[in-house]
Amino acid sequence: HDAVDIIRAKRDGQAVPEPALRWMIEHYTKGYVSDAQMSAFAMAVLLNGMSRDEIRVMTDAMIASGERMEFSSLGKPTVDKHSTGGVGDKITLPLAPLVAAFGVAVPQLSGRGLGHTGGTLDKLESIPGWRAALSNDEMLAQLRDVGAVICAAGSGLAPADKKLYALRDVTGTVEAIPLIASSIMSKKIAEGTDALVLDVKFGSGAFMQDIDRARELARTMVALGTDSGVSTTALLTDMNTPLGLAIGNANEVRESVEVLAGGGPADVVELTLALAREMLALAGQPDADVEAALADGRAMDAWRAMIVAQDGDPDAALPTPRETHVVTAERAGIVQRVDALPFGVGAWRLGAGRARAVDPVIHAAGIDLHVKPGDRVTAGQPLFTLSADDEKRFGRALEAVAGAWEIADSAVDVLPLVRERIT
Ligand code: URA
Repeated sequence: HDAVDIIRAKRDGQAVPEPALRWMIEHYTKGYVSDAQMSAFAMAVLLNGMSRDEIRVMTDAMIASGERMEFSSLGKPTVDKHSTGGVGDKITLPLAPLVAAFGVAVPQLSGRGLGHTGGTLDKLESIPGWRAALSNDEMLAQLRDVGAVICAAGSGLAPADKKLYALRDVTGTVEAIPLIASSIMSKKIAEGTDALVLDVKFGSGAFMQDIDRARELARTMVALGTDSGVSTTALLTDMNTPLGLAIGNANEVRESVEVLAGGGPADVVELTLALAREMLALAGQPDADVEAALADGRAMDAWRAMIVAQDGDPDAALPTPRETHVVTAERAGIVQRVDALPFGVGAWRLGAGRARAVDPVIHAAGIDLHVKPGDRVTAGQPLFTLSADDEKRFGRALEAVAGAWEIADSAVDVLPLVRERIT
């Protein structure tokens, strides 16, 4: 095979035959196909797309570049969730223990935040002692004993994706649906889960703003999972408004614990329950009473066991901010919108996120909303609180959120959070 011929074929809108595509991925991973060639190929894919079969082959070649995990020795079904990411999206935290409370294993390999979207591992690291890195043996033991594991993905899973994603990031080719789908699904299939529920987000705080593109991505990934023997379904969910009230790290853990205690914001509870029902249906328990497991403390027990198993102290105080700044309503009325992207950027600038992969996050930094769209407010009422370790950060965060909320007299139609289900 020749890389230039493969690039030309994709450039001219032809399908790339299976052996050629496998060769391309394998030789790129090994360094024989150059970054220049692979970025030209990625751009051709972005412009001309890929067939369902090409996407399957591409995904399979990326899986074959690394190790594959295997959980069949557990003797219980495994089911995982993947979210395409958003602002205030802490759903994995209450969801994994909730599903594990039904005797299902949840191997939740997670990542860190980059940009305005948070990372599940960063959030959990607010808990004193908690450890993200587990060996494969530790992970298996915890899946057997506790059921839920949220830990860092080892470097052995789909190394081709790691290399290709970094290249896409600097060549304007992140947005290609075949490349996003194969990237996400190669890691999930290599992880060895029996079933997978995708939370594909659309809206200002999401990776895809447009619901039609989000639907296309969801359909592509569901087809890919199904073709690879992983039972996969997807929910299309609204990310125009931050999820819940907490945006940050420690505050998102606090909110998750409220949900596990039977309280918490209605939207976080709704999405946690909806995803838990999807996951348990795929694991053979379509009638599981997920509300009861939140109300009677079984999900909380699984959470505590999960945190303790990774050396965290579920009773320890979480970090609190040194400085806070409250923004109040300039007038009375009804909150029309709270726009996810600017609030995500604001929390990021306060230190909740990182600018470079090597930067630390400030666990106590972030934004706590006190109102959501549809709420009635009086003039002077607190709308949200910024938290940081240094008050110098407030200026740039306030610039980010300027104009991101609106109070007016008209009633608002709050659209459903879960918009579509894709199977
Ligand atoms: N997340 C991934 O893991 N890969 C992509 O390509 C996009 C989002």
